[in-house]
Amino acid sequence: MKIDILLGLQWGDEGKGKIVDALSPDYDVIARFQGGPNAGHSLEFNNVKHILHLIPSGIFREGKTNIIGNGVVLDPAVFRKEIDELGIPLNELTGRLVISSKANLILPTHRILDAAYEQKKGNLKIGSTLKGIGPAYTDKASRNGLRAGDIMLEGFGTMYKELSSVHNELLKFLRYDSDISANEIDWFRGIELLKKFRIENTEYLINNLLSAGKRVLAEGAQGTMLDLDFGSYPYVTSSNTISAGACTGLGVSPGRIAEVFGIFKAYCTRVGSGPFPTELNDETGEFLRKKGVEFGATTGRPRRCGWLDLPALRYAIMINGTTRLFMMKADILSGFSSVKVCTSYRINGRATDQVPFDNNSVIEPVYTELPGWNEDITGIRKYDNLPRNLRSYIEFIEKNTGIPVTIVSVGPDRNSTIFR
Ligand code: GDP
Ligand code: IMO
Ligand code: MG
Repeated sequence: MKIDILLGLQWGDEGKGKIVDALSPDYDVIARFQGGPNAGHSLEFNNVKHILHLIPSGIFREGKTNIIGNGVVLDPAVFRKEIDELGIPLNELTGRLVISSKANLILPTHRILDAAYEQKKGNLKIGSTLKGIGPAYTDKASRNGLRAGDIMLEGFGTMYKELSSVHNELLKFLRYDSDISANEIDWFRGIELLKKFRIENTEYLINNLLSAGKRVLAEGAQGTMLDLDFGSYPYVTSSNTISAGACTGLGVSPGRIAEVFGIFKAYCTRVGSGPFPTELNDETGEFLRKKGVEFGATTGRPRRCGWLDLPALRYAIMINGTTRLFMMKADILSGFSSVKVCTSYRINGRATDQVPFDNNSVIEPVYTELPGWNEDITGIRKYDNLPRNLRSYIEFIEKNTGIPVTIVSVGPDRNSTIFR
C-alpha cells in the first residue's frame, strides 16, 4: 500500500481540516508531518465546528489511527488544551493517537523568543502566529532541541532547565523581559498528559501499517507558498510544507507516495506579511473576507483576500507533483457579475509565468475575466447541478493547470462536498 498526501497549494487555510475529516473514512491512518500549533484546521459536523492545531483531523472518526509525526513541533501546553476541548474520553483518545518519539518540543521560552525576534524586526516582521515555531525548528536544526521521547528520561528535568536557561540568556541579550513561571506549570502538566499516550518511533509503525495493506493519508499544515525553501522567504514558516516534507516528516520513502492532493480556495487568502500579487485592498476584498469569514483559526487575525493566482498555483503544483486538485469555498464566489483569475504576471513591463525571487518585485497581475453566477450552491451535491458559469470557471482552472479538479467544496460541513 502507498500513502496519499493532502496539502495546501496557497498560503494556508485552504480547508485542509475539512477535507481530511471528509476523506478519513477511506483511510486507516491519518498523519501530520510538519508544522505545529501555528496550524488551525477547522472541521464541522452535526452543526458543531472544531478547530485542531496539533492533532490530526481524523481524530473524530472511530477506529482510525492518528499520528503526530517526527516532522511536527509539539507544544505540550497546547496539546493538553486541545485534548481537553475535543470532547472525546481520554481512554479512547489514547487508543486513537500515537506520537513520534522524534517530534521536537516547543518550550515556553520558544514562544517568548518568537515574540522577541518579531519585535526586533520592526516593520519587517513576518507576522508569525507567535507559537514558537521558528525558534523550536531552529533548536532542532542546531541540535539543541528536546524531543517527545526525552520526556521518559530521568534527566529530562535537567535537559529542560539547560535549554531554557540558554533561551533566557538570549532573551536578556534581546532585552525582552517576560515572566514564564505560569506557562511552565501549564507546560509540565502537558508533559504529564503526553506520558499517557503511545510515544514511539512512528516511522516503524507507519511503514509496517503500509506493508500490512493499510491506507495512510498524510495531512499537511500551512501551504506551499509558506514553505521554508519555496515560499516568499523570509515571509514563510519554518518547515517544508510540500510533498517532500511528508517523507522526512514521517519516515516514508518517496516510492511510497501514491497521490498528492492539492487543495486550494476558489480565490486566495494570506495571513501575515509577504507578497500577495492578487491582493484586493478594496470592497471586493472586503466582500470576500466578510462572506468567507476570513479570520485566522489560530490567531483570529483578518486574512488578506484576493483573486485566484494561477502562476502561484502552477508553481505549487509543480513543486508538489500534485495529481488531483480540490477546490474549496466555491460557495463564497456566488454573487459576482464576473470573477477574475490571474493567468500571468507583468514585472517591470515584462510578462512572466514565474514567481519572482525578489519579494520587492512590483507584480502586476494579468487577469482573465470570466462570467459570474448568483445561485446559492451550498445545497448542491452533484457536479452537473452546479451553475454553468461555475463549471466553466473550474474547467478554465483545469485547462490552465493540466490537473483535474475532483472535489468541489460548497460549505464548511463535512457533507457539503461534491466528489467528481
Ligand atoms: P485549514 O487550515 O486549511 O484547515 O483551513 P482553516 O480551517 O484555517 O480555514 C478554512 C475555513 O473555511 C474554515 O473556517 C472552514 O470551516 C471553512 N470552510 C472550509 N471549506 C469551506 C467551503 O467549502 N465553504 C465555506 N463557506 N467554508 C469552508
Ligand atoms: P494552517 O495549517 C495560514 C503564517 C503566519 C505567518 C507565517 C509564519 O492552518 O493552514 P509561523 O507561526 O509559522 O512562524 O508564521 O506563516 N502561517 C499560517 N498562515 N495558515 C496556517 O496554518 C499558518 N501557519 C503559519 O501567519 O505569516
Ligand atoms: Mg488554518
